[in-house]
Amino acid sequence: MKLAVVNGPNLNALGSREPAIYGMRTLAEIERLLTDEARKRGCELESFQSNSEGAMIDFIQARAAEIDGIIINPGALTHYGLSLRDALAGLKIPVIEVHLSNIYAREAWRATSVTAPVVAGQISGLGWRGYVYALEALMDIIQGGNH
Ligand code: DQA
Repeated sequence: MKLAVVNGPNLNALGSREPAIYGMRTLAEIERLLTDEARKRGCELESFQSNSEGAMIDFIQARAAEIDGIIINPGALTHYGLSLRDALAGLKIPVIEVHLSNIYAREAWRATSVTAPVVAGQISGLGWRGYVYALEALMDIIQGGNH
């Protein structure tokens, strides 16, 4: 099984960016941890981050035929990234959305996710662990369906 983890704008700054909200771990640390967790489960994981919505869409379009599922943290694009939303909506593979922070417990504008309606599910507020839970859930969904 091959999966991809896609992180959007500003997530390259994890570790130094508002650590009280997003945690102390860098993106490289989270990606390494997730790659190890995937490998333990016999799964290959590809990591991608971009600050640009277009580059995220290009990656998703280029890789969709080769991979079985996607874990995505769209960063602030979650709240207004309609092109990204449409790219996800067109996929035949399952996607799980992850947020380090609880987007429902912050500013009102963060409580809207334009991507959530087109993904299998969302994990919000559990920090870096959310990526690991998403990996487990995504593998289950791919292997056994969603029921
Ligand atoms: C985020 C939440 C978004 O509102 C914010 O813009 C981010 C990170 C999170 O992981 O909690 O960049 O997606």
